[in-house]
Amino acid sequence: MGAYIKVIDVEKYYGSSGSITKAVDRVSFEISKGEFIGIMGGSGSGKTSLLNVLATIDTATAGHIYFDGKDITKMSEDERSGFRKENLGFIFQNFNLLDTMTLEENIYMPLILNGEKSNDIIKRTEEIIDILGIQEAGDKYPYQVSGGQQQRCSCARALVNNPKLILADEPTGALDAQNSENLMELLLEINKKFKTTILMATHDPFSASYCNRILFLEKGKISYEIYRGARNREGYLREILDAQKV
Ligand SMILES: Nc1ncnc2c1ncn2[C@@H]1O[C@H](COP(=O)(O)OP(=O)(O)O)[C@@H](O)[C@H]1O
Ligand SMILES: [Mg+2]
Repeated sequence: MGAYIKVIDVEKYYGSSGSITKAVDRVSFEISKGEFIGIMGGSGSGKTSLLNVLATIDTATAGHIYFDGKDITKMSEDERSGFRKENLGFIFQNFNLLDTMTLEENIYMPLILNGEKSNDIIKRTEEIIDILGIQEAGDKYPYQVSGGQQQRCSCARALVNNPKLILADEPTGALDAQNSENLMELLLEINKKFKTTILMATHDPFSASYCNRILFLEKGKISYEIYRGARNREGYLREILDAQKV
């Protein structure tokens, strides 16, 4: 089996001649199906730019990205929007929930946007709410629940259309230590149970220690790569901390 996702010489530049920022600078890597992969790097290292290009939210300046054999950098805007709805789930630092909707409504929004039938929507939403253990919070509004529960709800929303890839950008960035740990345990469970491929950008070593593999970005380039292998998470975390000091 070949790579599930192939990123080849991807560049993302902002600005025009005179003042160009090379946010992503000839980055290449592959992702296998079912991997839980982390992108680490300091602020401004290009994590979000890389994620946005992979998500087809933004277009690459150069390079190719093959998703299950199809070059997503060649898609039209319509094709990209269809591609996102069908294949991707998103989790953001600031949860991105709609304040005027209950958690349950936030969760089934993607299904409505996909034009699914209401029976299927109800069934799938209930299933996801059960799996994520947020039954009691379904009819509450985001402001009525904790940040941890809001982020569980974003996970539910990301999962509701059975995505092939979850893209998470600093998902623990706004959470305290306990809620960060809960969220990472949840993402790990999702990765194991549904075999969902996950790509997570983070600057937090503890969160990154849940990934099978971590790519370090520095000024838009991959500088380093480490694998967890058979190690326990504590040993892995130490190596991540050491890698950051280099
Ligand atoms: N929309 C944009 N326009 C211009 N420059 C940008 C834009 N987005 C990001 N940048 C720049 O690109 C670089 C990488 O940013 P970003 O991808 O947000 O990094 P990270 O997510 O690792 O903090 C930074 O120098 C940032 O200032
Ligand atoms: Mg970022």
